[in-house]
Amino acid sequence: MHQTLLAWYRQQGRQLPWRETRDPYAIWISEIMLQQTQVKTVLPYYQRWLQLFPTVYDLAAADQQTVLKAWEGLGYYARARNLHKAAQVIVAQHQGQFPEQFEDVVALPGIGRTTAGGILSAAFNQPVPILDGNVKRVLARLIALRQPPSKALDQLWQLSTALVPPREARDFNQALMDLGATVCTRHRPACLICPWRSPCAAYNQNVQLEIPMTETR
Ligand code: ADE
Repeated sequence: MHQTLLAWYRQQGRQLPWRETRDPYAIWISEIMLQQTQVKTVLPYYQRWLQLFPTVYDLAAADQQTVLKAWEGLGYYARARNLHKAAQVIVAQHQGQFPEQFEDVVALPGIGRTTAGGILSAAFNQPVPILDGNVKRVLARLIALRQPPSKALDQLWQLSTALVPPREARDFNQALMDLGATVCTRHRPACLICPWRSPCAAYNQNVQLEIPMTETR
């Protein structure tokens, strides 16, 4: 399963600046910006942020006004306040080194399970799973999940965990995100060019447009 996705990614994956670096600080910034904002919007902010605050020390030492100003236009300002706070924690408690232990990473303000996985896999190639909105859709279709993803989070996390290849977690997780963003899209999934077409239960049952099921209450 992972080989077909990796082969596709090596040909069709997007070239994005946070994929050219192994610096956990820069990768962390990108993951926080990408939580609620599209890639195209994030790109100029990411470059500018790293010029303003090239290291975690620069961010920790900046005043809050400067930090919020650099975020201006991205929205959800709690993300910027949490970045600032977390930078201070990294300096005070981790000697300025971004932590490599999952438990230490999820303990930082603004970092949940999927963001921690995104950072640790991208920066250190650790085999940790991710499960953001796009990945939920890809995996729900892969298994033709007959309930809304929010009702099957344990199952989806288990699947994401089982799929990550132990030595190629970095590229695999990036590939999953690209597949969700560019091929396995919500309204127009491009199943005919999808590397996971043959194992995809939704495709095989022709129900790709009905999955993921929407939340009802
Ligand atoms: N969305 C969240 N993380 C991402 C990443 N690393 N690349 C592209 N889109 C993303």
